[in-house]
Amino acid sequence: MLVAGIDVGSLTAEVVLIKDGNIIHYVIMPTGSNSKKAAERALDSALHAMGMKEPDLDYVVATGYGRISIDIADKRITEITCHGRGAVYLNPGVRTVIDIGGQDSKVIRLNDEGKVFDFAMNDKCAAGTGRFLEVMAQALEVGIDELAGLSEKARDTVAISSMCTVFAESEVVSLIARGLPREEIARGLHQSIADRTAGLVRRVGMEELVMITGGVAKNRALVKALNEKLVTTIIVPEEPQIAGALGAALLAQEELSS
Ligand SMILES: Nc1ncnc2c1ncn2[C@@H]1O[C@H](COP(=O)(O)OP(=O)(O)OP(=O)(O)O)[C@@H](O)[C@H]1O
Ligand SMILES: [Mg+2]
Repeated sequence: MLVAGIDVGSLTAEVVLIKDGNIIHYVIMPTGSNSKKAAERALDSALHAMGMKEPDLDYVVATGYGRISIDIADKRITEITCHGRGAVYLNPGVRTVIDIGGQDSKVIRLNDEGKVFDFAMNDKCAAGTGRFLEVMAQALEVGIDELAGLSEKARDTVAISSMCTVFAESEVVSLIARGLPREEIARGLHQSIADRTAGLVRRVGMEELVMITGGVAKNRALVKALNEKLVTTIIVPEEPQIAGALGAALLAQEELSS
């Protein structure tokens, strides 16, 4: 039995393949401007790597904001359900999932059976999301994967007062122009995202264990700031970006066996 989970987000598309209950392969690719094409590309690449073809698939579940356009999917399921399912598979003790992607952030509360019972979401603006960090990395002239390292060098924090991404970007530019240390500004930016995320966590109420998924989980400085804010030790999976696609693949498997 071969199933696939496809998660097409605003920035990246992921595919996870499960064969006879085992995860056999995954891919992460940029979404680009066409989510339908991104899904096809990612699925083809995953199947090709395994020497398989589309007709070999028994069931496909699609999730993510681009899921509507994925014709090959047998079923479409929300990101909330898929990230929850993926997280519980990775650690059955997880009760709170924080997913921070490129354009939104969400906090999902799971019950003792690992099912979603509440969630809070910020999808209204870029503040508190991966996009915010990307804009700020650019302003600080570092790559997105260098932002955490920069922040870790800071001895102090320069607080960022603007909430909005556009205003925060001008604030960062003028702080740099005033000669404030870039690493301290970077630390302030991570604090700002951690504050926003902690606010979302408070809305649903935190229960341990807590796991973070989505690309922003790869940012160590943010995870550290969140650990301090929430007074917990957040679990970071080995590949946090595929949690949604993994959940989708697991749900595909359940559809077939139900
Ligand atoms: N190596 C890395 N180091 C730090 N941050 C990273 C790294 N790789 C990705 N990111 C962050 O992850 C974000 C993308 O996350 P993800 O791939 O989960 O988004 P998405 O699922 O496409 O978006 P959404 O779910 O909001 O539609 C980027 O904006 C960036 O901030
Ligand atoms: Mg996503």
